[in-house]
Amino acid sequence: MTRSFAPGKVILFGEHAVVYGRPALAAPVTQVHADVEVRDSDHTGIWIDAPDVNLRAELNTLPSDDPLASVIHNFLFLARVSPFPKLKIKINSTIPVASGLGSGAAVTVALTRALSSHLHFAMSDEEINAFAYEIEKIHHGTPSGIDNTVVTYAKPVYFIKGQPIEILKVGHPFTMVIGDTGVSAPTKESVGAVRKLWEADRVKWERVFDEVGGIVRQARRAMKSGEWELLGGLMNVNHELLQKMTVSSPELDELVGVARKTGALGAKLSGGGRGGNMIALVPLEMAEAVAGSLKEAGAKNTIITQVS
Ligand code: MEV
Repeated sequence: MTRSFAPGKVILFGEHAVVYGRPALAAPVTQVHADVEVRDSDHTGIWIDAPDVNLRAELNTLPSDDPLASVIHNFLFLARVSPFPKLKIKINSTIPVASGLGSGAAVTVALTRALSSHLHFAMSDEEINAFAYEIEKIHHGTPSGIDNTVVTYAKPVYFIKGQPIEILKVGHPFTMVIGDTGVSAPTKESVGAVRKLWEADRVKWERVFDEVGGIVRQARRAMKSGEWELLGGLMNVNHELLQKMTVSSPELDELVGVARKTGALGAKLSGGGRGGNMIALVPLEMAEAVAGSLKEAGAKNTIITQVS
């Protein structure tokens, strides 16, 4: 039996603009993860059991665009595994789906790692990352590749699409509270909405993306030097620019406002938006209080995490 894990992720700064070549900052969230078990079986075929998405089926009965089926088919093709082995694959994930925490990328990475190890087809992190990016492209249209990268390397990253990754050196660890609106919002839709805006007025939106890029670069410096007030302020400005891109929502704005009122140094939505999660930068001693206020204001779940 082979078992593999991959963490969730948060985008700290720069979502959406990153699709258009601007930098972004992201970090793993180890409090939630995808967990995949692969074992040999006596039954013919490859049986998948994924209770979180109510799936229990043999691979060949699934449509080819099913996200799990596409990972397995593409892996077997890449590794030239033939005939198909008899396997039982169990997939559990504590990462909420369509919430901006990278659940799709985490399941892909954990599943690929478990298959590669169980079927003795060695893959480096770089190869896992490139494979997961191809899978993201099948399901998300025009992803930047940031989700699969953070999840594969499980380290904070400064990311620019198509460039070698830069593992982020965080001068001093800091604490974030993550709040889930409970509204599920597929990334593909919000990315598509921003693309429509951009297609209608490229000059305007390129300027907005440039502003986001400037914020990301300042944020990277503030993280290195431990200037938390500055970092919080930058989160607030980034959130405003995301509102402009129409990817916030009343629920996200409410939680962002509550976090700021109850002691956060700054807050913003995180990931695709229009639902999903928001993040708040907090002094460690305020983390529980901010998480409590978010819950009172309707957050379905909160996570306190350290970026280090
Ligand atoms: C999703 O986690 C981040 C987005 O920028 C999409 C992407 O980069 O692929 C919204």
